Amino acid sequence: MTKKDNIQIYPEKTIEFFDSISEKYGEKNTTPELELKSNDLIADILLNSSNSFMILDAGCGNASFIKRIANNNKFHIIGIDFSSKMLEVGKRRLNRHNNVKFVQAVVENLPFKNNIFDRISLINISPTLLNKQQFLDTLKEIARVSLPYAKLYLNIWNSWNPILAIKCRRHDMENRPLKTYSSFNMNKLFKKASFKIKRKFYLADDKIDYGSLKRYKKWYKKLGQLIYLYLSRFFIFSPVIVFEAQVDKKYSNEKEVKK
Ligand SMILES: C[S@@+](CC[C@H](N)C(=O)[O-])C[C@H]1O[C@@H](n2cnc3c(N)ncnc32)[C@H](O)[C@@H]1O
Repeated sequence: MTKKDNIQIYPEKTIEFFDSISEKYGEKNTTPELELKSNDLIADILLNSSNSFMILDAGCGNASFIKRIANNNKFHIIGIDFSSKMLEVGKRRLNRHNNVKFVQAVVENLPFKNNIFDRISLINISPTLLNKQQFLDTLKEIARVSLPYAKLYLNIWNSWNPILAIKCRRHDMENRPLKTYSSFNMNKLFKKASFKIKRKFYLADDKIDYGSLKRYKKWYKKLGQLIYLYLSRFFIFSPVIVFEAQVDKKYSNEKEVKK
């Protein structure tokens, strides 16, 4: 499959959408709070280590996450994304950082050899993957390019959160619903892709961002808010879950080395 074929499996609207938000993505007023919180959390974890890492940021967008960690010269970072506009903005922002490179590619077919990366991030992208099979293919591909015992950081929108479950189904940015996953879905996906979950972080915001539900009647919203605030206290319902998972190559199938 060529790079173009890979990108073409996505509805045109998906890529157009990301191209259209490439200048604004990552700013406080235009980006959901929990996406920024996920970025901050994962950046803190990486920056707290004194090791040198080869890092892959899969679905890097306009480098909103990479710019949080790029000043650490012990990190060599490669960002990949299918949106050329996002990559243009990322390159412009980080043009003085020799330790950062950008490549246009899709996350489920990475243009790298086996066993390269120490740390991989896949942040704020699971809702736009097409389905579970594609998520699994992506995890397997990440396992392939990871060094033995490398760590992967990713977040999901929790399907057990009642407001998100409705909101994502009604999402109209790309004429298709956004994908949510539960912790149970992730246990299975990680296992199939030879990852072991090391830690989970449950993120919650303080109020509901109604977004596409804005037109709902007032009392629906009040009821929604009540249920939401009550359920958010139980971590299994929190809207976003961040996973730290470690690849376990002992159990992964030997694969053909690419390129
Ligand atoms: C919401 S943005 C998040 C960007 C970045 N990870 C961050 O958190 O700052 C999602 C990004 O994933 C990219 N993306 C979505 N699906 C992708 C895929 N299958 N392959 C490559 N990039 C993808 C989009 O172009 C977009 O830039």
